[in-house]
Amino acid sequence: MNETEDPIVIEHLSKNYGGQVALNDLNLTVASGLCVGYLGPNGAGKTTTIKILTDLLRATSGRAYLNGTDVIRHPEAALEGVGAVVETPEFYPQLTPRECLSYVGKIRGMSNDAIASRSHAVLEQVKLLEVADKRTGQFSKGMKQRLAVAQALLHDPSILILDEPTSGLDPRGMVELRDLIKELKKAEITILMSSHLLNEVQEVCDNVAIIDRGILLTYDSVENLSAGQEVTLTVHTLEPVSPQDFEVIKALQGVTSLKRTENNKLIMSLSGGAEEQSKVLREILNSGVDVVSYTPQHAAIEDAYLHLVSEGDY
Ligand SMILES: Nc1ncnc2c1ncn2[C@@H]1O[C@H](COP(=O)(O)OP(=O)(O)O)[C@@H](O)[C@H]1O
Ligand SMILES: [Mg+2]
Repeated sequence: MNETEDPIVIEHLSKNYGGQVALNDLNLTVASGLCVGYLGPNGAGKTTTIKILTDLLRATSGRAYLNGTDVIRHPEAALEGVGAVVETPEFYPQLTPRECLSYVGKIRGMSNDAIASRSHAVLEQVKLLEVADKRTGQFSKGMKQRLAVAQALLHDPSILILDEPTSGLDPRGMVELRDLIKELKKAEITILMSSHLLNEVQEVCDNVAIIDRGILLTYDSVENLSAGQEVTLTVHTLEPVSPQDFEVIKALQGVTSLKRTENNKLIMSLSGGAEEQSKVLREILNSGVDVVSYTPQHAAIEDAYLHLVSEGDY
């Protein structure tokens, strides 16, 4: 057992594929109860890390501990309290969600009673209770992905690891999966999810670990990474903003630039974080301007990310 209480501890983890370095001396510690986004462009090493953590791949060197147990030396014990969705799930089309869960529960050595009660609980969590006895053959990709999460949650793990959980989903499927993760966050569970989507990590996660070319570039809270970054918003108003109101908005604290692009549309740059952003909106409304929408043009951590991740990866 490792001395630390932290659920995920990665120490000097490296992985070479032949001569190619996929992970280079990675160190990362995730504290209990956090939802961490593991963010990086394609080929950064996210899946490699997650496969090592879930014993699907051997590390070249280094250590990883899950709930204090060395996953490389004692994979079964280390993964006892872990649920993971790593590869795009495929289910036998003739099986129902309840049957899929029952199968997984038996592999995990759960009793029939435990399987029945946990199946009900996780199907409710992933919002598949209504289709619990329908064949998965007709399911959308998003429903299958949520079923895969249900399987991962069946034995009530304290750690959930997801590799690109929204990848390949349509916009609605993405929203539903993100909502599910946000719901899971309210429980005590520690979540590590990889993503190449900045906005997703910003929306869903507490902390973000940014990796590029096998090297961990930063690990910090989304809040800290967004702080001090300028955000540009499109402000769509019901009526064209009068020249006087335009000047009032331009003078608001935090507003660094204001342009009129169309009659009813302003492009506004703001410094400061979410608090500043909401304060400015309130003041615009207070001045009597009716706002239809108030939309950031890009994620607030985008600048931090682009600054860290070298160009040419996309
Ligand atoms: N089985 C493999 N054999 C050789 N190289 C691989 C293999 N799997 C991944 N790689 C390489 O390792 C690097 C990291 O890949 P991966 O962990 O899949 O990145 P990500 O999940 O961030 O897109 C990439 O350069 C990729 O080409
Ligand atoms: Mg990957």
